[in-house]
Amino acid sequence: TTPDSLAGAPTRQSFWTEGGSLWLPPQESTTAHEIDGLFNFILYASIILTIIVAAAMVYFVWKYRRQSHVDRPVDVHESKWLEMSWIVVPTLLVLVVFFWGFRAYVGTAIPPSDAITVNVKAQKWAWTFEYQNGIQGFGEIWVPVGTPVRLEMTSQDVLHSFYVPEFRIKHDVIPNRYAYVWFEAPRVGTYQVLCTEYCGTAHSNMGALIHVVDRDTYYAALRGEIGNNEPQAPVDLGEQLYTQRNCNTCHSVDGTAGVGPSWQNIWGQPRPGSESGVVDDAYIAEAILYPQAYIVPGYENGNMPSYDGQLNEEQVAGLAAYIREVSGAATEADRVVPT
Ligand code: CUA
Repeated sequence: TTPDSLAGAPTRQSFWTEGGSLWLPPQESTTAHEIDGLFNFILYASIILTIIVAAAMVYFVWKYRRQSHVDRPVDVHESKWLEMSWIVVPTLLVLVVFFWGFRAYVGTAIPPSDAITVNVKAQKWAWTFEYQNGIQGFGEIWVPVGTPVRLEMTSQDVLHSFYVPEFRIKHDVIPNRYAYVWFEAPRVGTYQVLCTEYCGTAHSNMGALIHVVDRDTYYAALRGEIGNNEPQAPVDLGEQLYTQRNCNTCHSVDGTAGVGPSWQNIWGQPRPGSESGVVDDAYIAEAILYPQAYIVPGYENGNMPSYDGQLNEEQVAGLAAYIREVSGAATEADRVVPT
């Protein structure tokens, strides 16, 4: 099944679309053809060499099989041209792969000087993007078509890896340091970001979307006008944040057990991880912003990341309203759209 974080992503196009092949997706960045060229060269060289070696082996096994009229095989003496060939040919192949690979590496490692920068933050189990003006994208980002985009990436917790198959970019994202990749997409489209470094329970749900859009749409995104910024009733805001901020990777709303406690019917119940009190607005706010405060029995691993500084008061209140909703305790006020 498609993880919620990838909902809306394009379905895989046909095998033979632009620049793709049976085993590679379409080429959607300016450096993809270079990577594919090298990949295909190594692949075909390996296939040819494998066939030559296997054929020679079969031939010699047959040629030097035991024969009744031969007591002792003929001694073999040196062959200068044969020895030179197995020194020179592999050396040339390795040199070709090295220089080709080095050129591709430099091309993908050093962004053009006119690249725009987008910050990428990886956290179990979501990707957060931030433009240079501070506008953020949770699980999706809009970038201009035909423009180099440089990603400055870091992790809040463990190793993750940023992978966009169509762009042929894949780079480890590491806590306490920055990693950089860049791409330029020549066509408008939406592409999936995948995490390719196992990072825990919901690793396979850790996806995001990159929207390659025209200039006007990009500027609108830069101004924060894209991505559901209409005023919403608290329950609707909470429901949206539940998937957008990946609460759903750990917390179900239907009572199903997950990485974290289900949100169904917890409103008004005794506070998980506390001796006294019931689940109310104050408890939910504290559990979201300072989750270390509560060690919930059965969930002692402390996987819940802190959202301090990442969710504002209104958003935390929206999540509380959504928890009331899935506990059957939503109030009239929870459904009022603020003006
Ligand atoms: Cu993040 Cu796997």
